[in-house]
Amino acid sequence: MIKTFNRSSYSAASLLSALCIALVIAVLMHSDYYYGASMRFSGSKLKYSVPLVQLQRKVLSSYDHVRAVRAPGSSGTSFSENRFRNQSLTRNIGKLSGEEKVERELAVARASIRRAVSSTIGNFRSSTTVHDIVEDDEYVPNGVVYRNPGAFYRSYMEMERRFKVYVYSEGDPPMTHHGPCKDIYSIEGRFIHEIEHGVGRFRTRDAQRAHVYFMPFSVTMMVKYLYKPLSYNLTPLRHFVSDYVRVVSMKYPFWNRTHGADHFMLTCHDWGPHASRGNSFLYNTSIRVLCNANTSEGFNPQKDVSLPEINLYAGKLSPKLLSPPPANASRPHLAFFAGGTHGPIRPSLLHHWKNRDNDLQVYEYLPEHLDYYSLMLQSKFCLCPSGHEVASPRIVEAIYAECVPVILSEHYVLPFSDVLRWEAFSIQVEVSEIPRLKEVLKAVSEEKYRTLKQGLRVVRKHFMLNKPAQRFDVFHMILHSIWLRRINVRLS
Ligand SMILES: *[C@@H]1O[C@H](CO)[C@@H](O)[C@H](O)[C@H]1NC(C)=O
Ligand SMILES: *[C@@H]1O[C@H](CO)[C@@H](O)[C@H](O)[C@H]1NC(C)=O
Ligand SMILES: *[C@@H]1O[C@H](CO)[C@@H](O)[C@H](O)[C@H]1NC(C)=O
Ligand SMILES: *[C@@H]1O[C@H](CO)[C@@H](O)[C@H](O)[C@H]1NC(C)=O
Ligand SMILES: *[C@@H]1O[C@H](CO)[C@@H](O)[C@H](O)[C@H]1NC(C)=O
Repeated sequence: MIKTFNRSSYSAASLLSALCIALVIAVLMHSDYYYGASMRFSGSKLKYSVPLVQLQRKVLSSYDHVRAVRAPGSSGTSFSENRFRNQSLTRNIGKLSGEEKVERELAVARASIRRAVSSTIGNFRSSTTVHDIVEDDEYVPNGVVYRNPGAFYRSYMEMERRFKVYVYSEGDPPMTHHGPCKDIYSIEGRFIHEIEHGVGRFRTRDAQRAHVYFMPFSVTMMVKYLYKPLSYNLTPLRHFVSDYVRVVSMKYPFWNRTHGADHFMLTCHDWGPHASRGNSFLYNTSIRVLCNANTSEGFNPQKDVSLPEINLYAGKLSPKLLSPPPANASRPHLAFFAGGTHGPIRPSLLHHWKNRDNDLQVYEYLPEHLDYYSLMLQSKFCLCPSGHEVASPRIVEAIYAECVPVILSEHYVLPFSDVLRWEAFSIQVEVSEIPRLKEVLKAVSEEKYRTLKQGLRVVRKHFMLNKPAQRFDVFHMILHSIWLRRINVRLS
């Protein structure tokens, strides 16, 4: 257990000065080099009182230093040779604090990605500017499933090259540094394990040089060990989270610096968002990586990350899903769903389609002689209605099975939608359209269906859990979403 401290409320003065620091950062990020929407710092309704011109000058001059930081040899950028060979500038860099170095490094990445956003349409391979960072495993994102393949590629490469995550060591297993690996919330345990013990290049032991700080607690484990069944009392979870933040914010300088804006937590449990209320800055300012990405429950897509839910029975994926049938294999069923009637959407689905129509195989309880994954592999569309919470492991399973997911959700921010065009490999149907579901699916032309399936084959790798993690797989995609929130760049 982590040590607990008495709750101490922030004094008005320290709160204000902290907010000012946060605002300065927000303004910096809004500057010329900065693309897209800003993080919403708490209190962001306040008008910026900092003179913008002065700040911009500050950013501009620091950008000059950034040019100098570029290592000679990393050519192919548009930085002027003279500038980054200027020895007097290069020497100055040595005197920068870790924090300044980190920010400048991010400014370079931001500028590079921004150039890619504005310059790449179509075939990114033809661009010569990225060859210096292409690696052995040369996957290059391309095609309609990506919002902007070139910008994504650049951003991904910048992430691989620079991104450093500091993992707090505070806390003991099982509630920290450990998580479920064998159930519906397994992504929690798998991520913690990968970032802490994986071969990855992303973890740094040098907290000064980190871009983000990870608090490796597991809400699923808290539910297992702290929650009293049927009590519906989530206070112990909130207290644990609150204590954790308090401990790291007293022991290290990093949390207070930005009020947690460069910190992240990750959880797949339904109650993850509730637990994150344990600290209001964590809730409002930090990056929360959540399966339960319900915008009606405070999920903020500009700073929070939607996490795919991946169900691992006995710690593994079903072998059936690992090798889907060839693209031309016949899929006799139009659509398939089997699952309980919980949550706001499924009652309507089951009411209209359970045992109604042979084309739509809709079950509440799957009869024993039928096999769940085989049915997915034999269906053209897999229905993925939200249950108790917005996310459903069916979505990822459908992607593995190359069965076009039919998303039936409200207020759900789909995973990796900052990079992926979900409409290129799934169908979204309004809940009010459920009575017309068969009509809607029948109306998808053969050609459109083929395109969607091709799309699934492309995005499949982005949802795969590998041990060890592999480039562009789900672990890297999650990190990339965090990276994007940290540098705060929009790719589309
Ligand atoms: C977080 O946001 C909520 C809702 O906007 C607000 O009531 C609360 O005061 C905020 N907390 C902090 C610490 O700013
Ligand atoms: C190098 O930097 C110094 C100090 O900022 C500056 O005076 C000088 O003009 C620079 N030289 C070049 C070639 O950019
Ligand atoms: C961070 O701020 C809190 C509340 O103001 C304070 O108790 C704590 O000591 C600060 N942490 C550090 C490392 O200064
Ligand atoms: C699918 O394609 C393969 C090779 O292209 C072919 O050998 C096979 O007969 C096809 N199967 C069906 C069901 O059309
Ligand atoms: C999303 O949040 C809203 C507001 O709390 C809630 O009514 C709705 O049921 C949630 N959606 C799901 C699928 O849980």
